[in-house]
Amino acid sequence: SIDYTITPVKESESLDAWELLEEKLLIKDVLGEGAFGVVRKGEYDLGEGKRTEVAIKMLKGNPDTEEKRQILQEINIMKSVPAHPHLVSLIGCITQGSLFGPLLVVEYCSKGDLHSYLRNILDKLHNPFYANQLDSIIIGEDIKCASNRLYDLAVLENNDIPQPKDLISYARQIAIGMEYLTSLKLIHRDLAARNVLISSDNTVKISDFGLSRDVYYDKVYCKTTRGKLPIRWMALESLTHQVYTSQSDVWSFGILLWEIVTLGSTPYPGLSTGELLVLLKDGYRMKKPSNCSDELYLIMSKCWKATPKERPTFTELRKALDDTLETIS
Ligand code: ADE
Repeated sequence: SIDYTITPVKESESLDAWELLEEKLLIKDVLGEGAFGVVRKGEYDLGEGKRTEVAIKMLKGNPDTEEKRQILQEINIMKSVPAHPHLVSLIGCITQGSLFGPLLVVEYCSKGDLHSYLRNILDKLHNPFYANQLDSIIIGEDIKCASNRLYDLAVLENNDIPQPKDLISYARQIAIGMEYLTSLKLIHRDLAARNVLISSDNTVKISDFGLSRDVYYDKVYCKTTRGKLPIRWMALESLTHQVYTSQSDVWSFGILLWEIVTLGSTPYPGLSTGELLVLLKDGYRMKKPSNCSDELYLIMSKCWKATPKERPTFTELRKALDDTLETIS
């Protein structure tokens, strides 16, 4: 495993190999906005008439020193993590001299985030022509019945509607990315469909892992820097004792599986975040979505065991999803 420590940026050290030239960076439309940051689309001039599409994360408004420190830390974590096919890759950064403050430049994922992508499928299926068929698509199971033919038709007409097996493959790719992050002793703490991006070739990539915390670096982490706490994705021990581990990331992965199966529904529908804690402590968990196979539901349920050690590891999850994929043609 790779040992990594967060190195504070020193003025003299920041002009390293990752530093990009601002005059070669074209900043375009806003792709997304967070509590204190904004992500814009952009292009970077590679020379010889070649350009590459990029996504640029920057602070907005008048960022204070704390916000600048945080984006610099995010840049440093990304620099320290060797590229992986299922993590959004760092292209470079601009930490000095930019009027916009520190800029974090990453690969552009043209199909956007997984949550919007899933909602978009749901909207297509709610088109009157394909109406009421969501319940008849069993995700995680290979059924060639009349109802599935309707889904096949929707796929034919709209070849950007993924098949159930594509959705399981997305889950598997996320598990592989998380297996890698875990091997680097990094805890994501905000694993959710909104933080997963899809590239033009349909590769699924985990984003925002630069906001991760080192397992050993912050032993107890209390307040999130991400603004709002992702209550519905949080493990029981994170809610009750602010404890974050790779096993709490596994809980969030189980919620992410549920998001995938329900095509981007909000977890615990009908429950307020206030009601959630009491219910979870009592052992309440989300029931099996009607279009979910028993096998896939078993996988997500194990992620929600009250005792972190009893949950599967990302390696076990990856293997379980490999097996699920094998049963689907
Ligand atoms: N939204 C946020 N980050 C993005 C990225 N890297 N590519 C596309 N859309 C994004």
